[in-house]
Order: sequence, then structure tokens, then C-alpha cells
Amino acid sequence: MPSVNSNNMELTNSWRGKSLVTLLDVTKIQIEQILELSSELKKLHLSRTTGKQWEYPRTLGMLFEKPSLRTRVSFEAGMVQLGGHAINLAASDVGLGTRESTADVAAALSRWVDIISARVFRHETVEELAENASIPVINALSDREHPIQAFADLQTLFENKPITPNQLKLAYVGDGNNVLHALLLACAKMGVSISAACPEGYFPNSDYVRAAMEIGHNESGAAVAIVTDPAEAVQNADAVYTDVWASMGQESESEHRAEIFKNYQVNAELMMKAKSDAIVLHCLPAHRGEEISTEVMQIHYKTVMDQAENRLHTQKALISLMLGY
Ligand code: CP
Ligand code: NVA
Repeated sequence: MPSVNSNNMELTNSWRGKSLVTLLDVTKIQIEQILELSSELKKLHLSRTTGKQWEYPRTLGMLFEKPSLRTRVSFEAGMVQLGGHAINLAASDVGLGTRESTADVAAALSRWVDIISARVFRHETVEELAENASIPVINALSDREHPIQAFADLQTLFENKPITPNQLKLAYVGDGNNVLHALLLACAKMGVSISAACPEGYFPNSDYVRAAMEIGHNESGAAVAIVTDPAEAVQNADAVYTDVWASMGQESESEHRAEIFKNYQVNAELMMKAKSDAIVLHCLPAHRGEEISTEVMQIHYKTVMDQAENRLHTQKALISLMLGY
């Protein structure tokens, strides 16, 4: 911490223990001291990227338009473990896109923190943040994608099935949602074949399916299939993955979806059709008795919690790499 006016301790300490309520009580010297120290601190701030690893604690600004347990805690704990810290920013408090434009929020945050994560309703919001921030922005779940979830999913899959990814098949059963979109791309890129079973009308976005199929075909050799029959999807699968039938923001559709998805539960009967040593994955939160039976969740609980733990490690790795360490 740089010091100022070190020749005159009385002046240096003129702020010590004082409150700031009105500038009427503040002296010219006190203001000068703030400005002088601020200039020093600014130099330190602007030169922080040339410092040694985590010499200057890094800050993550976490914008949340939706609830979270795993994402928030793993980011916050991860930043502390890396020697930095995180600030939780409820989008409703910030007024993201209402009190202030998303672009201005991104530009202003870039001046104070080192990295931003954003959980948003509309994918366009995280795109706009990334376009207008001068620091890295992480999609912490949008209506389209949940990319950081997919890193933890892959780590858990590979820990449990330490064979070449090209020999692995992951089956997804349920809604063609943000989690599936991320899985389609992540699996296709890594060479893991993926087969998803979704009801008619709840298929994943065709852009994601097409992109995954092209990557599988042209680059990795992964087979990508979207079907309607869960039994067909899980056939020969090494891992069976599911997620809630109604995502955050779709709560009003829960009842309607429960009827449509009732044959898309990952239960003991369905697991009999996968490989006998297949693992079960779930991004959580889980709705037992809906997308997953209580019994299957109980049997595979450790793996699912390992998957949740891996959110911490993969996000620490991502942030370290983004910040250049
Ligand atoms: N899987 C996941 O992202 O969990 P949270 O919604 O609790 O962050
Ligand atoms: N598809 C779910 C994932 C939660 C982590 C949702 O968007 O609510």
C-alpha cells in the first residue's frame, strides 16, 4: 500500500478514525491526500496484469438474474481459494438493462473488477456484456447455454470413465434446454458421442444440433443423435444425464410439462437399458419423482455430488486461464 505525505504524520493521519458524512467537515488537505493516494492506487491497479501470480487480488463480479446455489458458491469460494474475491450483484439491484443499459454496466464493471460472470434470462444479455466489457465475461447460464456446467460434466465423465472419449456415449433424457445445448457442443468437441431423447416440440435448438453434428462429423468422430424414445437414447450409454423439465423462468409451465415429460424419467427401468456400469449425471437442482426417480438419485448420489464439486475446480481453472495464470 503506497503512503502519502510521509514527512508529516499528522497530515497523513488526518483521516484516521474519522467518518465521512458531509464535505463541509472535510479539509483541503484531506481531499489532497485522497487524490494523491488514489493516483498511486490507480497506477498499481492499471499495472496489475504485469504483477506476479495473484500478487494483486483479483475480483469477480457475479451478475445473477436468476437464483443459484452451485454457481454462486463455487465461483465465490473458488475466487477466495485463488487469492481473490467475488462480489454478488443481483441484477435487480444493479438494474441491469432497466436502471442502466447492459452496455454501460459492462463498461463500468470493467473499470473495477477483473472478470464478470452473468446468469441471465436472455442469451443476448451475456453477448452484450461480453461485447461491451474490456475484461473476460463468463456465461453462468442463459436461456440458450450453460457452458461452465459442461466443463464439470466432462470432468466427472472422464474421472469415472477413464477411456478414450471416442469410446464413450452419453445419453441425455428430458428437455432440449440450455444444459443439453452445452452438452451437445462439449461432447461433440471432445469426441464423446451423445444421444438425446426429448419429446416432440421440446427438441434442442436446431443450430446447436447442426453445429454439434458438423463438429462430430468433421472433427472429432462423435456421433450426435436426437430421438424421442428414451430407451433408444440410453442404449449402450456410459452415462445417463438429465435435468429439470421446467427450467428457471418456465415455472408456470411446470404442470403442463410434467404431463408431456412423464415418460422421460431416468428411473431403474430405464437404467436397465443403458450399460450395466453406466453412471448418472444431473446438473442439479433435482426434482426427485419427476426427471429422476428417488431410487436412481440415491444410487448415483456420490457421482452427482462429485459433478457438483467439479464446478469449483473447472471454474477455478477457467478463471486462472482467462486471467493469464
Ligand atoms: N447447476 C447449477 O448451475 O446450479 P445452480 O443453479 O445452483 O447454480
Ligand atoms: N435447465 C436448468 C438448469 C439449472 C442449472 C435451468 O435453466 O433452470
